[in-house]
Amino acid sequence: MNNETSNDVLDRILLERRTHRRFKQDIPSDEMIVDIIHAGLHAPFAAAAVGNDKDYFRRFFVIRKDSETMAAVIPLIFGEVMRTITDLEDAMAKNQELQVQAAGFMNRLAMMKRMGSVPGVGTAPLTIIAAEKKGIPPVEQQSLAHCMENMWLKATDLGLGFQLVSITAQMADNEEFCKVLGLEIGKWALMGCAIGYPVEELPPSIRPPAEEVITWLK
Ligand SMILES: Cc1cc2nc3c(=O)[nH]c(=O)nc-3n(C[C@H](O)[C@H](O)[C@H](O)COP(=O)(O)O)c2cc1C
Repeated sequence: MNNETSNDVLDRILLERRTHRRFKQDIPSDEMIVDIIHAGLHAPFAAAAVGNDKDYFRRFFVIRKDSETMAAVIPLIFGEVMRTITDLEDAMAKNQELQVQAAGFMNRLAMMKRMGSVPGVGTAPLTIIAAEKKGIPPVEQQSLAHCMENMWLKATDLGLGFQLVSITAQMADNEEFCKVLGLEIGKWALMGCAIGYPVEELPPSIRPPAEEVITWLK
């Protein structure tokens, strides 16, 4: 008999949520994808910034591996990585503090340049891009983070692996990329994720005990 309470279930899913970076070829069903997007749609949104819940403040785009659309976006995203490297190199050359701060990010970009590809882009059976209407104040990336977390938890419960692809955010100002999605450039913020059946099971996430990071204020 399963005595798991809804609270136990929630705790289990929270700990099972991991970043998966290797996916099987098997394609998750359309029903699963719709369920994941349903979860994303129910994440909070910044009502005061973008209007009301009857407005289409959030959109989703599903791109399949090896599709015509994926073939179009792969070089656009890689081009963005190359541009970021050039811009960051210029900025770092003039700023010593930035050289230290951005070293880790620069290493990651340099790794992508060497590989000739961006991790998570076209590597999973499915890529989902969420778009959030820009508003005032500009909190659309925060809204997208809530949306992605809901999708991530739903994917976890469905036994699917999930990888955030944060370079997607930078594509919001790329005219050709927005054209592929049919979005007006400058009006939307973007975030993306790769989804598929994971190659390997990952252990539950490990974090410090909550007591170690809490300050109880009087
Ligand atoms: C804002 C944000 C951006 C991230 N971007 C990426 C990404 O582009 N690619 C990736 O593989 N993981 C990305 N991650 C996943 C983190 O690396 C991961 O959550 C962290 O290492 C902890 O591992 P866990 O998710 O398995 O608990 C991102 C996470 C956050 C919160």
